[in-house]
Amino acid sequence: MKDSIYQKVAGLAQQKKEQVILLRRDFHAHPELSLKEFRTTQKIEEELDRLGIEHFKVSETGVIGVLKGKAKEKDQVGDHAVIALRADVDALPICEANETDYKSQADGVMHACGHDSHTAMLLGAASVLKEMEGDFSGTVRFLFQPAEEIGAGGKIFRKEKERTLADAQRVFGIHCAPDLQSGLIGVTPGINNASVDHFTIRVQGKSAHVCIPEKGVDALYIGSQIVAALQGIVSRETSPVEPVVIGVGRFEAGSAYNIIAESAELEGTTRNVSKENREKVNRLVTETAKSIAALYGGSAEVEWEDFALPLINPAQICQEVSQVVDLTLGEGHVKSDRVVSLSGDDFSEYQEEVPGVYAYLGVGNPKVPGTQNALHTVNFGIDEDALTLGVSAYAAYTLWWLNEGYANLPRQ
Ligand code: NI
Repeated sequence: MKDSIYQKVAGLAQQKKEQVILLRRDFHAHPELSLKEFRTTQKIEEELDRLGIEHFKVSETGVIGVLKGKAKEKDQVGDHAVIALRADVDALPICEANETDYKSQADGVMHACGHDSHTAMLLGAASVLKEMEGDFSGTVRFLFQPAEEIGAGGKIFRKEKERTLADAQRVFGIHCAPDLQSGLIGVTPGINNASVDHFTIRVQGKSAHVCIPEKGVDALYIGSQIVAALQGIVSRETSPVEPVVIGVGRFEAGSAYNIIAESAELEGTTRNVSKENREKVNRLVTETAKSIAALYGGSAEVEWEDFALPLINPAQICQEVSQVVDLTLGEGHVKSDRVVSLSGDDFSEYQEEVPGVYAYLGVGNPKVPGTQNALHTVNFGIDEDALTLGVSAYAAYTLWWLNEGYANLPRQ
């Protein structure tokens, strides 16, 4: 009996496949950068209106849809069940190299991280759940989050948690994964993604002719020493069995070949998988930069920007999601041992507030050219057949939580 609800989800998700693909292609053709997702937001609102789902804005480009179940045999408990489903909606400053009829029409902007798919899948799930509103009680909140790529949207929504998460007991999100075979969904307990911090180091020296180094303070030399020394933090100060990255991606200094550089600027990022290491590594980056600059008579200022917390999936909730995918699609679709990625995702902001899981949808298919290309590249593409699995997972886990999961929560 219970199984039949999940089979209904799978059937409806299949029926909506073409619609979801059309939506994805529409978003793909009209990508927008973080915090500028105006057309995207409007399209989401139009689609929610078409479905008859209430919605409101949070910030200029964030949308929350709210759907309440109408199951007849409501029990008091199930009525209080709330789940939040999240999709990020923004694109990247990348010039698309794919040649398709839904290629990006925005110069230098591309959905190269699959957020077009996430948005389309969540709208697909909203459509399935709306049709099934008589099959559940409780509330679903659809979070269409802006600005994931700059680590801002998760913070905006978390700050407004009374309006976004509003008493949710579970939060669930899905991201595309080209390294995972289409037809599979990665639901991995424990660490999935790293924290992401961005640093800028400004070194102040003193210019002089290169022939009289003793009269100057060489900011370029100091910067070089800092670049080299930062790797010592990884190899000498942190455990070799816990991954850490310190990467410097930009280094600018100097004005001419025969003048000692007066200043230097370095930009980079740190990635950590525990809060403890994150605090330690970032502190040591600052201390190293300042100490080395001081050693050679200069000074350094270090500015930090916090982009994302480590993303850690609780084992018990992974178990819930995996079991529901099995119920919906049969066994063999869940992969639970995906390798940790040191990229980040601000879905972790929600996990600080509400127990939840971030799943990875396989979109790579060796038979569909281009679908195994990495995220954030000019020729990223997906196997669109994979989207139906994402729609099913969103909708089925929602039904399970509202109908069964919440009722079995330990209560006082
Ligand atoms: Ni992404």
